[in-house]
Amino acid sequence: MHLSLRFIIPLMLVLTAFAYAVSPVIDRMTLRWFVRDLDIRSQLIANAISEPLFEQLAAGRKAKIGDFFTRITLDERLFAIGFCAGNDGTSVASKSLPPELRCKDLGRWGAEGNSLLDSKNGPLHVSVQPMVNELYPTGRLVLVHDLGFVTRRSEETKRYLVYGFLGLAAVVSLLTVIIAQLSWRGWLAGMRSLLRGEGLLRDPAATMNLPEFRPIARDIERLVRELETERRARDESQITWSPESLRTILRADLRGEDVIVVSNREPYIHQRHGERIEVQRPASGLVTALEPIMRACSGTWIAHGSGSADRDVVDRHDRVAVPPEQPAYSIRRVWLSAEEEAGYYYGFANEGLWPLCHIAHVRPTFRASDWAHYVAVNRKFARAVISESKTKNPIILVQDYHFALLPKMIREELPQATVITFWHIPWPNPESFAICPWRDEILAGMLGSSILGFHTQFHCNNFVDSVDRFIEARVDRESFTVSLGGQLTAIRRYPISIAWPPDPAMLSKPIEQCHAELRQQYGLPRDHRVCIGVDRLDYTKGILERFRAVERLLEQKPEWIGRFSLLQIAAPSRASIEDYQNHDAQVRALATRINDRFVRGERKLPPPILLKVEHHDAEQVYQCYRGADCCFVSSLHDGMNLVAKEYVAARDDEQGVLVLSQFTGAARELPEALIVNPYDIEQCAAALHLALTMPASEQRDRMRLMRGLVSEFNVYRWAGRMLLDAATMRRRGAVLEKPANLPANG
Ligand code: G6P
Repeated sequence: MHLSLRFIIPLMLVLTAFAYAVSPVIDRMTLRWFVRDLDIRSQLIANAISEPLFEQLAAGRKAKIGDFFTRITLDERLFAIGFCAGNDGTSVASKSLPPELRCKDLGRWGAEGNSLLDSKNGPLHVSVQPMVNELYPTGRLVLVHDLGFVTRRSEETKRYLVYGFLGLAAVVSLLTVIIAQLSWRGWLAGMRSLLRGEGLLRDPAATMNLPEFRPIARDIERLVRELETERRARDESQITWSPESLRTILRADLRGEDVIVVSNREPYIHQRHGERIEVQRPASGLVTALEPIMRACSGTWIAHGSGSADRDVVDRHDRVAVPPEQPAYSIRRVWLSAEEEAGYYYGFANEGLWPLCHIAHVRPTFRASDWAHYVAVNRKFARAVISESKTKNPIILVQDYHFALLPKMIREELPQATVITFWHIPWPNPESFAICPWRDEILAGMLGSSILGFHTQFHCNNFVDSVDRFIEARVDRESFTVSLGGQLTAIRRYPISIAWPPDPAMLSKPIEQCHAELRQQYGLPRDHRVCIGVDRLDYTKGILERFRAVERLLEQKPEWIGRFSLLQIAAPSRASIEDYQNHDAQVRALATRINDRFVRGERKLPPPILLKVEHHDAEQVYQCYRGADCCFVSSLHDGMNLVAKEYVAARDDEQGVLVLSQFTGAARELPEALIVNPYDIEQCAAALHLALTMPASEQRDRMRLMRGLVSEFNVYRWAGRMLLDAATMRRRGAVLEKPANLPANG
């Protein structure tokens, strides 16, 4: 509207001024035309009246001629008429003849012809016509026309001219504004969609309607791509990563697509205890990381329904809304028979791939029957994914080593899906990986992913080396992509993390209270020093090495005997696997031996190792973190290890020391921890002593830095980066779908 007024008003002013400027020219022109008309008219009148006039003159009826003239001048325009006779003839005129035109003065006006006279009666046209006749001596007829009507007409013309131009101005400017607005909108829409990276790609037909747009389109596209790469690097550090920022990415970059997560372990397990159904949260790093993501993104989480009451709470589509207290997404449960679970989960995944990838000196066991179950269960999950997909190009987050074959199976059914696979455990070097009899199938299965993520660059490198070594695929080490059968997979590092800020409920109990209650609970003196270990009871976690370090500490620094304990929380895990049973037994035996060694004879002393092989919920674990003096993570090999990050998150008092194995992904991000080699018992014992004697100021300095890192690189950023990469990939995919029309020889 503003634009229209700004355009119309000046245009109207210009056209009005123009109308005024041209009106004198038009005046002059019309005057000329009127005078010419009057010349002709005078001639006509002269011809018409010559005969009766001469008759009257010849008859000497001067009075009659006067009347005759008066009658003629009744004509509106003919102002006066007169006859000037030649030598001694009669001169006669109507009364209205101006005095300037008396016969004796005619010479001044030229003997005969037409002229203009500005008299006191206004402008007049004077025509002097010679009159010749055989009846009467020659004379001159004077015809005077009133030119006042010309002025009146000119005024009228000027008025119409101004109105006409004003109208024209309005119409022209209105049309111009409408056309300009329409094409501006078209341009804007085109420009906007182009900047979003979709204009030329999604709707080529629309672009064809804007031919003027095409020359710059290519340049803008290139610019957008460059900016996009730059923006990602810049934005990532500028975004405050939170559930809200994840939702924004989903809305803005992925057009609100639903996210489907697939993992073996479900985030909520319904267990039956007699009549009562209890909801359990499993001890799983994967669940810890993904659960807040799903709360933020909604969507569906497909997982193995492993709880004894899981079937009792699902709907007819095997779905249940969670979290139970405030549903935000749904779990789609997949049911497995005991044989399937034994072969796929316990067998191939946990006796084969788990030890294969962790290199924790437990031999991998590969059985053909386990493999067959692994293939069948992957296919079962693929069917579940396809039935849960609402579109032909969903975003599917495949989790972990239980589903190495799933990406390819999904792609076969949904070629346009964006499959992001995240491998939560390490990837071994090619020599170690070569042990697996189905290594090629596993690599090919994983390469069905659009993006394949690991925690560290080291694991990305190991994977690409394995592909390079064992299968016929094109590896591009510049872009870190692998191309297999036309399918491109980007191999990327995404270090996983935890939700930040942590759930306030976890931090609600004051540190002093946690400190006191922890000691009270285990019958320890108030000033007893406690180090905490929290793990699944798994041989990769280095629990035996941890115990040996405690033993060595007490050997070397006997002053800690009875003044220090390691509280080991060990969640039972994969208990039907023999290696886990052996490990469980070894852990219990070692704890007993060490405790016996140092408290023998003095039974009242607190034991150095407090082993709790039972499930603890998250609140209990956080209270232990907050009440302990240090936390010991001694994994022999670990993708990331979220216990280290949880401990840091729990210590909002900026106190406490983290002793961390160099073989965890976390060690690369938290160098302010006391980094140790868990196989080096002397070093671990020294680190424990250092932790127990570290001044509060140094604890603060280290903890502050670690908290800074975990807060910045939280789990929302982990998921957000993958989703942003997926969004970029989808846009790029849309570009590549279009035929490029490049000449063959470039
Ligand atoms: C590791 C694996 C996860 C698994 C978790 C618990 O963190 O990477 O995939 O969920 O262990 O193991 P579980 O076998 O009990 O699911």
